[in-house]
Amino acid sequence: MKPVVVAYSRVRKVAQDKLREKVDLRYYPYGTNFSNENFKKDLQIADGYIGLEKKVDEEFLSYAPHLKVASNVSVGYDNFDLEAMTKRGVMATNTPGVLDDTVADAIFGMMLAAARRISELDRYVKDGEWKTSLPDEKFGVDVHHRTLGIIGAGRIGEKIAKRAHLGFDMPILYHNRSRKKSLEEAYGATYCSLHDLLTKSDFVCLMTPSTPETRNLMGEKEFRIMKKSAIFVNGSRGATVDEDALVKALKEGEILGAALDVYKEEPIPPNHPLLTFPNVVTTPHLGSSTFVTEDNMSLLAAENVLAALAGKRPPNLLNE
Ligand code: DGY
Repeated sequence: MKPVVVAYSRVRKVAQDKLREKVDLRYYPYGTNFSNENFKKDLQIADGYIGLEKKVDEEFLSYAPHLKVASNVSVGYDNFDLEAMTKRGVMATNTPGVLDDTVADAIFGMMLAAARRISELDRYVKDGEWKTSLPDEKFGVDVHHRTLGIIGAGRIGEKIAKRAHLGFDMPILYHNRSRKKSLEEAYGATYCSLHDLLTKSDFVCLMTPSTPETRNLMGEKEFRIMKKSAIFVNGSRGATVDEDALVKALKEGEILGAALDVYKEEPIPPNHPLLTFPNVVTTPHLGSSTFVTEDNMSLLAAENVLAALAGKRPPNLLNE
């Protein structure tokens, strides 16, 4: 008998096909009205789980007594309770590497959009407001040659630094738990304290994973010490930003603008105050969402499940 694998949300067809060759796949697509009861019934007999966003915690695990592996179709794994999984002997995996350039493209695009007010002025044209040559009050700010600060320069941060250095001649500051020589040698990046990064950068790009240590890393004090001319970009997770403090900083003109791909609550409620600022560019957590990259992430997540169910070490094991 084939092992049972429950799949949830964005598991691309190419990966479903690959999984079906070896497992009995029970797929619950995101956004469809599926029966929670059936989902739980399938979890009762599941050997593996693959999916996006769903919390894999004590409660989830209590429905899945035979689970051997839970495979996240994302590099971030703040939805996983690693301690609970390890305690129950469940392998946890994610999908690092295959999305780095794609996410870096998105973050760079958002930075450009905020600096040059692209989404705001797109609306200006479509609303028929473009009547004369662009007035000064609609001008943007430069990106090239201005200082980029990256908080959490991991694999994706390094790709952002590459674009900034090679394409835009930007001096780069970074703040990590430890120094990253490769970043300094390849892109002339300078390691500095969080305080120095925030006070000196024209663009502050937050890319840290969401952990208890990075919770609300950007709060009132952090926004206050940023330059008034600086733009804040969040490509990390909503949990790393105190959104009330961000709203306050925007209202009081403590920063010039922001570009946000992630939020405390996703989807962000339509009446959220962050959505009222013309100088805030918002995107719907689209960092990795291109066809090729989403296929590759799903395929890697499937590979992790299949390796675990074959008694092998999955390539992206997060716990031992
Ligand atoms: C991830 O993989 O963690 C990114 O946020 C894209 O979903």
